Amino acid sequence: MSTLFEMSREEQEALYNSTLAQYEEYKSKGLKLDMSRGKPGLDQLALSDEMLNMYIDPTETKVDGVEARNYGELMGMPSCRRLFAELLGVKYEQVFVGGSASLALMYDVIAKAHTHGLLHSPEKWAKLDKVKFICPAPGYDRHFTICESFGIEMITVPLLDDGPDMDMIEELVKDPEVKGMWCVPKYSNPEGIIYSEQTIFRIANLKPAAPDFLLMWDNAYCVHEFDGAFVPFLDILEACRLAGNPDMVFEFASTSKITFPGAGVSCFCCSEANMEYMKKLLNAQIISYDKLNQLRHVKFFGSAAGVHAHMKRHAAVLKPKFDIVLETLENEIAPLGIASWHKPKGGYFVSLNAMEGCAKRIHELCREAGVVMTGAGATFPYKNDPRNSNLRIAPSFPPCDELAQAMQVLCIAIKLAALEKLLNK
Ligand SMILES: Cc1ncc(COP(=O)(O)O)c(C=O)c1O
Repeated sequence: MSTLFEMSREEQEALYNSTLAQYEEYKSKGLKLDMSRGKPGLDQLALSDEMLNMYIDPTETKVDGVEARNYGELMGMPSCRRLFAELLGVKYEQVFVGGSASLALMYDVIAKAHTHGLLHSPEKWAKLDKVKFICPAPGYDRHFTICESFGIEMITVPLLDDGPDMDMIEELVKDPEVKGMWCVPKYSNPEGIIYSEQTIFRIANLKPAAPDFLLMWDNAYCVHEFDGAFVPFLDILEACRLAGNPDMVFEFASTSKITFPGAGVSCFCCSEANMEYMKKLLNAQIISYDKLNQLRHVKFFGSAAGVHAHMKRHAAVLKPKFDIVLETLENEIAPLGIASWHKPKGGYFVSLNAMEGCAKRIHELCREAGVVMTGAGATFPYKNDPRNSNLRIAPSFPPCDELAQAMQVLCIAIKLAALEKLLNK
């Protein structure tokens, strides 16, 4: 088959007419399908149901001298801190286990930078005329929402195949108003790429003009392979320490997509000096987080090996769903040469880069045929995708049969939008 661009106008017209007929047929079915939510499916949640019935004997609630049923131990149950330290390859002293959402911890670090300043802040950020953040994009919309809510100016930097465009970033950090940067280093949301060691080395070795430059290292998908063996990753805290930037980074993770989103356990990791500073601030905010939930998670997994074994069970559910997405795109779209996408082996998304100028139209066509997708532009700061090309596919939530139908509709919409543009419809 020739690509859409190699076809004659007559061939394009014929393809448009047949695709439109397919579209009308799907539209008449009154579908209600949803590919917008990066949530685990019900079958994935069921993998952790044992935790719902977990009996914790009162004689087991005191571990390492810490009573989980009572106030105390701001940094969390030592056993849970050990578990995250093992998973993330950081030191026990560098781990703070919090509540059920890493996003809340991320928000909190940025909030504290504004209200109190960070360890090396000459001034609280709230007092500054301008605070700017580097936002690799396509990226996670909620990171951008945090920036927006604090009035932080976002600078969009392209996310390449091996991580953000470092040439650009090394220039940007020379501006003292550039105070930080978001990173999702493994199976980035939504591109699904993994930062290369070279990129991570360059990030750790940045020489920002701002003494309180904040590297927000969101390792949300650190153990989330659905295809193939676990991919080890560098300890960013150690990389920054070796580069002479020990206090530049905060790393975040959670069990949201391991056990129950919104009801799991989250953590942040940072240098010991940062930890001392943050502990003082957090001490004014909370006596201790939910240590019983932390204990339940430790009891459920036992060790990092237990988490990895559990992720294999998630993989068995997720892999067929990603196969549906990738195979449908490969069969329906690849030959036409009108879109590109990565083929992730982990994480929660497939990021589709459609023909320039088509994303909003594809989204609209899908919606009118009963298929909900994340809004076009949502993966960019200010919802502004300059090429109007990127769409995020979230395959995890719908059952396989619904996903297969939704993907057919999406592929029809991708073709129609491209043909409308080429034929000036
Ligand atoms: C990159 C990234 N970070 C954080 C989160 C949310 O994590 P949590 O549930 O721990 O707040 C998500 C959820 O989709 C995500 O994709």
